[in-house]
Amino acid sequence: MLKRPIIMDVDTGVDDTLALLLVAGSDKLDLKAITTVFGNSSVEDTTKNTLKICELLKLDVPVAAGAYRPVIDPPIDYSVAPMVDIHGRDGLGNVGNRLPEPVKTVVDMPAVDLMAKAIRESEEKVTIVATAPLTNIATFIMAYPELRSKVECIALMGGAAFGGNMGFSVEANIGHDPDAAKIVFMSDIPKYMFSLDATMGCFITDDERQAIADNGGETGVWLKDCMQQYSDIYKALGGLPGAVLHDSLPVAWLLDESVVEFTHCYVDVELKGVKTRGCTVTDLANYTGKAPNTYVSMKADREKLINMHIEAVKKFK
Ligand code: RIB
Ligand code: CA
Repeated sequence: MLKRPIIMDVDTGVDDTLALLLVAGSDKLDLKAITTVFGNSSVEDTTKNTLKICELLKLDVPVAAGAYRPVIDPPIDYSVAPMVDIHGRDGLGNVGNRLPEPVKTVVDMPAVDLMAKAIRESEEKVTIVATAPLTNIATFIMAYPELRSKVECIALMGGAAFGGNMGFSVEANIGHDPDAAKIVFMSDIPKYMFSLDATMGCFITDDERQAIADNGGETGVWLKDCMQQYSDIYKALGGLPGAVLHDSLPVAWLLDESVVEFTHCYVDVELKGVKTRGCTVTDLANYTGKAPNTYVSMKADREKLINMHIEAVKKFK
């Protein structure tokens, strides 16, 4: 069976970690490379976290560090950034110190060059899975326009047709670099937007987190603990039964398309709104008359998604 070639761009991150678990537990995906970017934490931390998670999940792929800041907006001050309360000061639920220091280090090239190398060398078109601010993706599009035709699609976790989690109408991955997001959404590469409209329903209950611990040996126990603070926050702030596994949804879709329902419409990114900069303006009713440019996830099958994680972690029992 031919494996689907993918690249992941991450800001590891608790839910990025669970997305990587789905990749590690599958024989359907050929992970060519991982690139890192600022977002849930500094790019130094997201890179170190990614290297640690690659070793935890036995993902032997090249990792390259990417952007430390948005293309236009000022760098995030992580000494006061609210994300550390969600993903923990270390970006891994404050249990990253229970993992060994990574043996491997990053490859000696910037993220966009590793993306280009992996895409150029692949015989098949490559799917880019983005679970972080889109700075690296936008930079890649600008730096290597000739490689756009070798990208199968961009499957990005981000945006929202309704609501937001960074202000009332902005989702974090888009809001952390709206200008980069604009470049991505205005590109001619096919796009699948796994937005809050679907991901907010993808919570994991305490019992399901326990099932990951019960089925995954020491790795499963660590993953359960890594989600603890993230889960507490979602219970306290969102009134949800547990942590929301936003980043897993694009990977789950690659493994089983029936896990998501899409609508195809025109999406743009608001850049000038005082309170709405970074909002993904999603034209569900086709008011603009503009041709659809993005498949937007409107519904997800939560139980199917969670069960994929429980199956994936059995590899580590
Ligand atoms: O809004 C959710 C997204 O922001 C996820 O990718 C999470 O990891 C954070 O990066
Ligand atoms: Ca993320």
